[in-house]
Amino acid sequence: MCRVSGYIGKKEALPIVMDGLRRQSYGGYDSSGILIGAGFNLVCVKAVGKLENLEKKLENRNLKGNWAIGHIRWASHGGVTEANTHPFWDCKKNIYLVHNGIIENYQELKDKLIKEGHQFISETDTEATVHLIEKYFQGNLEEAVRKALKEIRGTYGFIVIARDDPQKIVAARLSSPLLIGINQDEYIVASDPTAIAPYARKIINLDDYEIATITPNDLFIIKEKVPEILELIPEVAEKAGFPHFMLKEIMEEPEAIENAIRGRLIPEEGSVKLGGLDSVSQKLREVKRLILVACGTAHYAARVGEYMLEEYAGLPAEVDIGSEFRYRKPVVDKETCAVFVSQSGETADTLAALREMKEKGILTLGITNVVGSSQTRETEVGVYTRSGPEIAVASTKAFLGQLATLAMFTVYLGRQREMALVMGKRIVSELSKIPELAREVLKSAPEIKKLAKKYRDFKNFFFIGRKYNYPVALEGALKLKEISYLHAEGYAGGELKHGPLALIDENFPTIAICPSDSVYEKMVSNIQEIKARNGRVLAVATEGNEEIKKLVDDVIYIPKTLEMLTPMLSVILLHLFAYYMAVLLGTDIDRPKHLAKSVTVE
Ligand code: AGP
Repeated sequence: MCRVSGYIGKKEALPIVMDGLRRQSYGGYDSSGILIGAGFNLVCVKAVGKLENLEKKLENRNLKGNWAIGHIRWASHGGVTEANTHPFWDCKKNIYLVHNGIIENYQELKDKLIKEGHQFISETDTEATVHLIEKYFQGNLEEAVRKALKEIRGTYGFIVIARDDPQKIVAARLSSPLLIGINQDEYIVASDPTAIAPYARKIINLDDYEIATITPNDLFIIKEKVPEILELIPEVAEKAGFPHFMLKEIMEEPEAIENAIRGRLIPEEGSVKLGGLDSVSQKLREVKRLILVACGTAHYAARVGEYMLEEYAGLPAEVDIGSEFRYRKPVVDKETCAVFVSQSGETADTLAALREMKEKGILTLGITNVVGSSQTRETEVGVYTRSGPEIAVASTKAFLGQLATLAMFTVYLGRQREMALVMGKRIVSELSKIPELAREVLKSAPEIKKLAKKYRDFKNFFFIGRKYNYPVALEGALKLKEISYLHAEGYAGGELKHGPLALIDENFPTIAICPSDSVYEKMVSNIQEIKARNGRVLAVATEGNEEIKKLVDDVIYIPKTLEMLTPMLSVILLHLFAYYMAVLLGTDIDRPKHLAKSVTVE
């Protein structure tokens, strides 16, 4: 999952395209490249490694021009080399292209084009496209692109230019996100709205199979679109004095919950208002089964939702990961509702699962953070989590927004069914207190920092939890893996004795999430199993529980709340723990290696 950026207009293009890449640099950072054009003069510069390496190469080059394209790469096909870095050019160095996505039939195309005499310089899938466009180029670029795309199978967000058809950018999209920012006599193209926000307020989201032809004072799209108003405020994507976006976003977790519940709780009726579902409220009343689909951290939020929906809405709920669900043959019917959870709304595996369910005429509902993303435009209805822009690759505050939204969705469906007014009032009242309780939890940050110091030399970790906190254990392990590169596994507390216990010794600590809930006693037995094998245990427990201190090596506390809401407090401590471990280990916290913010390829 790479990111692309382009500019055509009256201003100097290079600073705008480089800023676009910088703002998207969480979408991949194996290598980067730009091409700048002044009239028929084109200059291409590439660099392996982080964007800073390209910036260094551009220093003192004083490259001028009013049109440019750029790319930041996450290697899918071919090693991390300069030769495999975009932009790619054709045999005559006339056509140049940057691409986000995967060309599935590239080998077939490449073999054919080589037979026709084309010379390839890279191992990538993308390069086949530029030679295919060259094959059809008769002086009109968009025409050549249109013909070439007919032969391509896969996903793409392309930006293409041609020296022999200057002052023109052609952009095309299939599945990978691609947006065009519109201003007086200038256009900015990018994969992500954050790269456009500082320069334009009007955007067009290209739809699948749309091709845009852009010149300094005109934009023509095959299949017309109505511009939307971009909600995003440019300066939001700043660190605001924090050393890392991740820490800033962890500190914004209480606010993320507040934003999600604001204006949606109806305490007096023990219910919630989710405006985005009004048009299907009767249909939702008839739903007999829920399927929740998501990837990564969003998948763990969905798993917490599964427990909530079954226990409090009395609805059978199952959860699956997008990359499996899309190739399964799930048995669904008209009484099934498919719920898709995604921060970015652009995760390819989740979108593919969504399109499968639409194909079958199933009611599709999205729980999404990014406004205007593909998931929000392709689901029938949905609820925004309102967590604000999440920049760090490791998702944190969006997870809290997802949990708050799933808790409200549970009340919404529960009150349509057996959930009594009293229970509805209890959940709504407790949910309204969570932002303040979350701020309490954040006050433990200095303590977590100390604990991270104490545990910094361990190379392997288990995270265990039961019921609502089992998915939290999975999330805690994922965060530690993602940003500290340490080995960590999340397990249901009861599962250890079926194998993983074999790994336990004084060098393999376990983080046990054991609030005082319906499964607390069971968690205590699991902790004793570990202690019996000299395992070290750091517990997350409910304040006031003094007993646990005698049993474990270290304990951190969360305030009391409803069992179903404890994940919204316990996970904050695990996000902080992973963060402080990564700080000690000196990893690139906001841009961990080999990862990217939203996974727009399969
Ligand atoms: C989480 O920290 C990761 N960045 C990743 O697992 C992420 O949750 C996953 O790719 C799903 O992304 P989405 O919520 O944007 O769909």
